[in-house]
Amino acid sequence: MAAPIEIRGFQYWPGHLDVSAQSTLLSDLRAVVAAAPLYSPVTPGGRPMSVRMTSAGRLGWITDQRGYRYETHHPAGQPWPPIPPAVLDIWHALTGLARAPDCCLVNFYGEGAKMGLHQDRDEGDFSFPVLSISLGDEALFRMGGPNRTDPTESLWLKSGDVLLMGGPARLAWHGIDRLRFRSSRLLPGGGRINLTLRVVEGATSPLSS
Ligand code: SIN
Ligand code: MN
Repeated sequence: MAAPIEIRGFQYWPGHLDVSAQSTLLSDLRAVVAAAPLYSPVTPGGRPMSVRMTSAGRLGWITDQRGYRYETHHPAGQPWPPIPPAVLDIWHALTGLARAPDCCLVNFYGEGAKMGLHQDRDEGDFSFPVLSISLGDEALFRMGGPNRTDPTESLWLKSGDVLLMGGPARLAWHGIDRLRFRSSRLLPGGGRINLTLRVVEGATSPLSS
C-alpha cells in the first residue's frame, strides 16, 4: 500500500479506491440509506445544515436543537444499519487498528452544500483517529490546526480519496468550503458522499446527568 502524504498532520491517500471499489461502496451505501434514510439535520442553534446525513454502526452522530451527540437510533426510530464490511476493511487497513469504529457518519452534499469549519469532538477518546472516505464530486477541504484561528490549507478531495485525522490532526479544525458539482460521474445525479469512521468509546451524552 502506498505511503500517505502528510499535510499538517493529516494523512492523505489520494485515489486509494479505484472506480470498481468506489462503485461497490456506493451500492453498499444505497442499502444503508434504504434502511436509514438521509435526513436534513439542524444545528443546536436551530439552523438547517446544507448536507443531508445518516449513519451506520452501533451509534450514529446526531445534531438537533438538543445538541450534538451519538444515538443508537435514527431520528425516525429504527436502529442504524451495520457498517458495510468493505468500509470496515478500509478502516482496518489504513488505521492498523484491530478495534472497529462505532460509527460511520454518512454526509451527502448536493449542489451548493458545504460544511463550516469545526472540530470532531463528541467522541470519548481522542487517541483514536477519524477516517474520511470521499465519493463523487470534488470538494474543497479546508484543514487547520487545533485552534480555531490557526492558519489553514485547502485540498480538493476527489472520489476515492481517503484521509486520516489522527495524532496531531485529531482535533484539527476542518470543513468543506464548496463542491465542484458534477465533476465526477460516480453519482448519476451529481453530488458527493463523505464517510467518517469514528470510535465513540467513552462519549457522554449531553442528555445524561
Ligand atoms: C466532516 O467533517 O464531517 C465531513 C468532512 C468531509 O465532508 O470531507
Ligand atoms: Mn468533521
